[in-house]
Amino acid sequence: MIIAIDGPAASGKGTLARRLAAHFGLRHLDTGLTYRAVAAALLARGLPLGDEAVAIATARNLDLTRLDRDVLSAHEIGEAASRIAVLPGLRRELVALQKRFAEQPPGAVLDGRDIGTVVCPDATVKLFCTASPEVRARRRTAELQSKGGEAAYDKVLDDLRRRDARDAGRDVAPLKPADDAHLLDTSEMDIETAFKAAVDIVDGVRAD
Ligand code: DC
Repeated sequence: MIIAIDGPAASGKGTLARRLAAHFGLRHLDTGLTYRAVAAALLARGLPLGDEAVAIATARNLDLTRLDRDVLSAHEIGEAASRIAVLPGLRRELVALQKRFAEQPPGAVLDGRDIGTVVCPDATVKLFCTASPEVRARRRTAELQSKGGEAAYDKVLDDLRRRDARDAGRDVAPLKPADDAHLLDTSEMDIETAFKAAVDIVDGVRAD
């Protein structure tokens, strides 16, 4: 079984993906971390974000078992990840890595922006997770503040809108729901309600 979850930043897709993987006994890959890991390596070495050959070489050395969410969650790494994510050759490299992960038994949950459309077009179940920009900005602000960081709601909202526009507006694999994706708007849901709704969707598809 492969569960594909796509959606914009702070839509709740990461938490949902982790919980669904635990619930159904599947492996989990947050594909955003693969873009973030490449971006972090380039930033650490002071290399330009637009050099595709260097980005591809960095991606070839990625070890999926060593993606450190805490380190990679930094705001500037997310910004840089969104910038390098427009490079078609880099995407080809990372998509190949992600497909190999998805194909290993017993199956997997992958979350990102192009899982249902590009990485796993034949996934058993596709979810597209959304929430209004204001709700997502409130969640992200609270999350950053709970980690002791400084976060101003207006700036977080501006950043999210800019990142949404870049992720949805790029030529290669833009953020968009697959035609056969189930939409899950979590604007009015807490995580428990969203999780139950997602489990119901998955169970419904498997029962068909
Ligand atoms: O989900 P995230 O915030 O960790 O993702 C960081 C960036 O990586 C995001 O702005 C766009 C890019 N990304 C992508 O292009 N395709 C994916 N499948 C996952 C992330």
